[in-house]
Amino acid sequence: MRFSETVFLAAAAAVGGVSGEPVLVERQSSSTVTVDLSKTYQTMDGFGFSVAFQRANLITNLSDKTKQRELLDLLFNRTSGAGFTILRVGIGSSPDSSSDHMNTFAPKNPGGPKAAPQYQWDGKDSGQLWVAQEAVNTYGVKGIYADAWSAPGYMKTNGQETNGGAICGVPGATCSSGDWRQAYADYLVAYVKFYRDAGVNVSHLGFLNEPEFSASYASMSSNGAQAADFIKVLYPTVQAAGLGNTTGIVCCDSEGWGNQVSMTNAIKSAGAESMLKAVTSHTYTGGPSGAMNTKVPVWLSEQCDLNGGWSTSWYGSGGAGEGLTWANNVYSAVVNNGVSGYVYWEGVQWPNPNTNEKLIKVDNRTNTYEVAKRLWALANWSRFVLPGAVRVGSSGGSGVKTAAFKNTDGSIAVVAISTGSSASNVNIKVSGATPAAVVAYVSDNTHNCEKTTASVAADGTISGSVAGRSITTFFVVPGPPAT
Ligand SMILES: *[C@@H]1O[C@H](CO)[C@@H](O)[C@H](O)[C@H]1NC(C)=O
Ligand SMILES: *[C@@H]1O[C@H](CO)[C@@H](O)[C@H](O)[C@H]1NC(C)=O
Ligand SMILES: *[C@@H]1O[C@H](CO)[C@@H](O)[C@H](O)[C@H]1NC(C)=O
Ligand SMILES: *[C@@H]1O[C@H](CO)[C@@H](O)[C@H](O)[C@H]1NC(C)=O
Ligand SMILES: *[C@@H]1O[C@H](CO)[C@@H](O)[C@H](O)[C@H]1NC(C)=O
Ligand SMILES: *[C@@H]1O[C@H](CO)[C@@H](O)[C@H](O)[C@H]1NC(C)=O
Repeated sequence: MRFSETVFLAAAAAVGGVSGEPVLVERQSSSTVTVDLSKTYQTMDGFGFSVAFQRANLITNLSDKTKQRELLDLLFNRTSGAGFTILRVGIGSSPDSSSDHMNTFAPKNPGGPKAAPQYQWDGKDSGQLWVAQEAVNTYGVKGIYADAWSAPGYMKTNGQETNGGAICGVPGATCSSGDWRQAYADYLVAYVKFYRDAGVNVSHLGFLNEPEFSASYASMSSNGAQAADFIKVLYPTVQAAGLGNTTGIVCCDSEGWGNQVSMTNAIKSAGAESMLKAVTSHTYTGGPSGAMNTKVPVWLSEQCDLNGGWSTSWYGSGGAGEGLTWANNVYSAVVNNGVSGYVYWEGVQWPNPNTNEKLIKVDNRTNTYEVAKRLWALANWSRFVLPGAVRVGSSGGSGVKTAAFKNTDGSIAVVAISTGSSASNVNIKVSGATPAAVVAYVSDNTHNCEKTTASVAADGTISGSVAGRSITTFFVVPGPPAT
């Protein structure tokens, strides 16, 4: 980076310093980023994380209530935390709550698919309901994504919730006990109603998780044709329950993108695509390589670094768990692959296993926690790119890559990530709006989404700096249209 000139400027006018005091400005050469509001891409649903497998209990059960509030603020608060807008909860299928099992509310086989179900709602849902209520009531979260890893065992070909097995009744899956498709659809809708009655609207409902992977924990197999078949049962069930305006179906949380592409294609061939609110995929066995060919929004609904040892670092060696890596992962998903929703794996987890599966490590024995910089990387997106935001054109700028979004209230978020280790001065010109005010936030080794300086000139050009190896978000409030 060249430091061509160092000058003193009278403060506030240019850099937002304390009025009247001289401010030392290193005037570097600036490059221009152009934001084009007339060029539009996907509409965003938001950013979030999961509390499945009883991780929610680490928040819900925490005896130190001050710490409990700190954790909720870190995750959901738009001023002091990540401001996440999507919460993924697991619909349990386990007969018990031992270990990290998510218990089902229908543990008893009522005697057949046509018999009256015997639901036993415990009002806790493995600690998830309380976290969801906090998200909704305290922080205004609207994205509640409820996902089942499996149906209860007695509804499946293998008679157990683990080790794959398909829902009895879908093509190629017949059971002597009968066709359980409607019973499973009724069960999922009952879950949505239990949540609704507790004040939480489930916005997105999933009935599969990694259906191509038969796991020793809750898991259920499905190919695309089987998923499409079940969607055609679930969709009218959701509508008939009067939930159609609130709750949409998503599919299929594949373990990897390639499988999700084939399942999506099968769902389209079967004429069930229009019954979906989103297509969801994980990236463990392969990530996206271009936008998925579907009319509905695409979510990366579970991401994390499963292998690396716990790391809170922002940047060290470009490791899989580092903050800057995640700032870039989201960029790639949203800009290169048209993703509308981005959901990390666990928000919180106990110290074991000592991996980066979580954003915050919580030790409930000592009431202590540790926040990974990944949370702040996601915060730079989540706090400013709100549900309903439309991604718009952004181009230019040297030493940075950018993504721009127009929120439903007219505010504009320009997310800039350094591509190298030096700071870059940028001018941002917004075509189609006249910025009236701008606030910039930076996350890097030493800053956690903290305010930094940026200013708007009389002609509406924004100028600011993007620190080396940082993610810096410029949040722009537009003025009246230019005349
Ligand atoms: C949370 O409390 C419930 C009882 O309400 C208990 O069953 C569960 O084991 C506790 N979990 C944790 C992680 O503390
Ligand atoms: C979010 O954090 C700010 C700053 O600490 C605090 O004033 C505010 O009350 C919090 N918001 C909510 C909804 O708790
Ligand atoms: C939940 O959905 C119902 C029906 O659409 C709506 O009336 C209610 O306001 C919603 N509640 C929240 C908290 O969004
Ligand atoms: C769903 O929305 C439509 C259109 O706004 C409305 O006519 C209908 O009554 C709503 N249904 C329910 C169950 O709220
Ligand atoms: C802490 O959490 C673990 C599991 O996450 C649970 O087994 C244990 O009972 C909890 N301990 C306390 C003191 O709540
Ligand atoms: C944005 O990311 C930076 C790291 O580059 C972090 O320091 C900062 O706190 C984040 N900003 C927000 C608003 O989360």
